[in-house]
Amino acid sequence: MKVAIVSAMPEELKPVLEVVNIKKEEKFGIPQKFIEAKYKDNDLVLCVGGIGKVNAAISTTRLIEKYNPDVLIMIGVAGALNPSLKIGDIVVAKDAVYHDVDVTPLGYKIGEVPETGIIWKGDEDLVKDFENICKENLKDKKVLVGRIASGDQFVASKDKANWIRETFQADAIEMESASFYHTLNLYGKKGVVLRAISDSADEEANIDFPTFLNEVSQKFRDIILSYLDKT
Ligand code: ADE
Repeated sequence: MKVAIVSAMPEELKPVLEVVNIKKEEKFGIPQKFIEAKYKDNDLVLCVGGIGKVNAAISTTRLIEKYNPDVLIMIGVAGALNPSLKIGDIVVAKDAVYHDVDVTPLGYKIGEVPETGIIWKGDEDLVKDFENICKENLKDKKVLVGRIASGDQFVASKDKANWIRETFQADAIEMESASFYHTLNLYGKKGVVLRAISDSADEEANIDFPTFLNEVSQKFRDIILSYLDKT
């Protein structure tokens, strides 16, 4: 099986890169990078896709068109919107929305990309599989199957975070998942997003984020390896 693992930032992918057998590397645009690798019997494509919705759509499209993986897994960090989530907890995204899309003056719903959609779903089986794998690997952390809100903003405001939670019933916030799921839906590809909480999207978020980025990124290595060992 060929599995793609995508992150926005190199820090999020680094722990996984340390344990796979790297074969080949392609640079495509700035900052997109695609690394072909092997782990046991699995072919892997590891992708640093860049921050934000456009980078996520470009890199996911490139991954599918050029490398044609069977399964795509996005890993990375997120800010908590759901008050029950603490730093280090995991969200497995059952779906994702764009919190910064607003064409309401033309009669569309908040978050609706005109004539396209509002809620972008992950693959149900992968969501279930990864919920179980995360629970097995992270006994001391909460693992929540929930909704992610994506937008081209680093949110560091309690008011803004509350608005996004109330408007979209979202559990966590970041900048890529909705365009990842959107692209997968168009291509009919299976994928899932896993996010570790790095901050609470409040006025302290800019301090918490870099502090916890490396720490929480480590968690994904064991989760990804457990999944690959089972496939
Ligand atoms: N990724 C991690 N924390 C975030 C935040 N507060 N806003 C947007 N993306 C994030």
